[in-house]
Amino acid sequence: MSHPLIEKFSRAGQAHIFAFFDRLSPEAQRALLAEAAEIDLAEVERLTRTLLTKGATAGIDLEGLAPAPYERRPEHGGDVAAWTRAKAVGEAALRMGRVAAFTVAGGQGTRLGYDGPKGTFPVTPVRQKTLFQVFAEKILAAGRRYGKPLHWFIMTSHANHAATEAFFAENKCFGLDRGRVHFFRQGRMPAVNFDGKIMLETPGSLALSPDGHGGSLRALDRSGALDLMKREGVDTLSYFQVDNPLVRCIDPAFIGWHVSRQSEMSSKMVPKAYAEEKVGHFCTQRGQTIVVEYSDLPMEVQRETDASGQLRYLAGSIAIHVLDREFVRHIAAGSEGVALPFHRADKKIPTIDASGAVVKPDKANGVKFEMFVFDALPFAKNPVVIETLRADDFSPVKNAEGVDSPQTCRDDQLRQFARWLHANGAAIETDRSGKPAHAIEVSPLFGYDADSFADAWKKLSPPPAIRDGLYLA
Ligand code: UTP
Repeated sequence: MSHPLIEKFSRAGQAHIFAFFDRLSPEAQRALLAEAAEIDLAEVERLTRTLLTKGATAGIDLEGLAPAPYERRPEHGGDVAAWTRAKAVGEAALRMGRVAAFTVAGGQGTRLGYDGPKGTFPVTPVRQKTLFQVFAEKILAAGRRYGKPLHWFIMTSHANHAATEAFFAENKCFGLDRGRVHFFRQGRMPAVNFDGKIMLETPGSLALSPDGHGGSLRALDRSGALDLMKREGVDTLSYFQVDNPLVRCIDPAFIGWHVSRQSEMSSKMVPKAYAEEKVGHFCTQRGQTIVVEYSDLPMEVQRETDASGQLRYLAGSIAIHVLDREFVRHIAAGSEGVALPFHRADKKIPTIDASGAVVKPDKANGVKFEMFVFDALPFAKNPVVIETLRADDFSPVKNAEGVDSPQTCRDDQLRQFARWLHANGAAIETDRSGKPAHAIEVSPLFGYDADSFADAWKKLSPPPAIRDGLYLA
């Protein structure tokens, strides 16, 4: 066997990925060569050298670290007039068609253990709408409200791209204009064993996995999405994750804070519920805004309180951002000193042994490399962090059971519907947690936030009785 790519891998000490090459069919050989061609060997070598050596994960430097400032909600002492102004600015941007929605849906969703793209998972309490349908309807409704239909970019992975596109086609894009829904794949990275050797998943394929949600910035650029946005006059991207149906995909106040402060990247925070809560923390260090993961911030620091007894590192990240288009391009270009770093995650990686037999490891046997989108924050000019109410923005489906599961998410949706009804004078019975006695559902096409709900509710005459299965559409 001789091929320039095989020789290149040999020179890099990675010849073993072709150990079974001669036994593969010509088609399988071509497929393996195509996968190998995707690999940036210099990058793998650099990551192995920097992230695999002992001490590489020794935690962050705490020098000069401080909690990041953020804009408090009006309910928590924030400036009411400033929030009102921000909302007006955001609404104007929406009316001008400057905003697009962006969902990162390339994850593997291993914790949920659902067979299929996570966005096709049913989540709503009555109609069992899928995550994708909920977002689609929110985006459709926001487009109608502001008189400008929005573009929606959806980042998939190699594993779920075809299934995601097929799902939207089957469902006629849930009423959205097909020409405004754009799918593109994120990049992949090879897994390596603890000696830095690229792993094979089968004799004819590499152990490749998505390059993390931070890969979305490169992928937006590479896919032509940024150019499309530019042609369409869109300069602002509303970024959210596929697993959180509560998210205000299109939030005028958030967009307005971002636009009026000329921010390149803005973020939402929620006050941490308790010191040990596993979220990233918005911090500042050496004049930059950064997110420090819970695993990197010593517990005694996470437990620090201020004079009023409140946690000092209160601002938890919930992975909701607004991004400036040209800022994304700048980061994607990865010029000297501006590229997103990779993080190391030790995982159980299905692989093969020396004879080519399948190995299903029961403990971590290798390392995946991922980029995180929040690592773009330190590069952003004028970053803004605003507070949001958890109950109105964040209830992810991560696990099959327990915290952040379909059950907790369903209950949080029910509580939100009940709050909207209650705020508009409907007699609705709830328990002490605010959960209604009846399973009800509000279609985003009826109301997708407190304002749009109030407008639609006013028009109902007489208002419907609250009963099990009530669906407002
Ligand atoms: P998570 O960190 O929850 O990962 O992703 P996950 O892959 O969905 O789930 P687990 O950890 O395997 O259980 C948060 C968001 O980032 C997206 C996910 O689709 C989700 O919206 N994501 C994650 C990507 O788009 N690409 C990635 O490489 C990783």
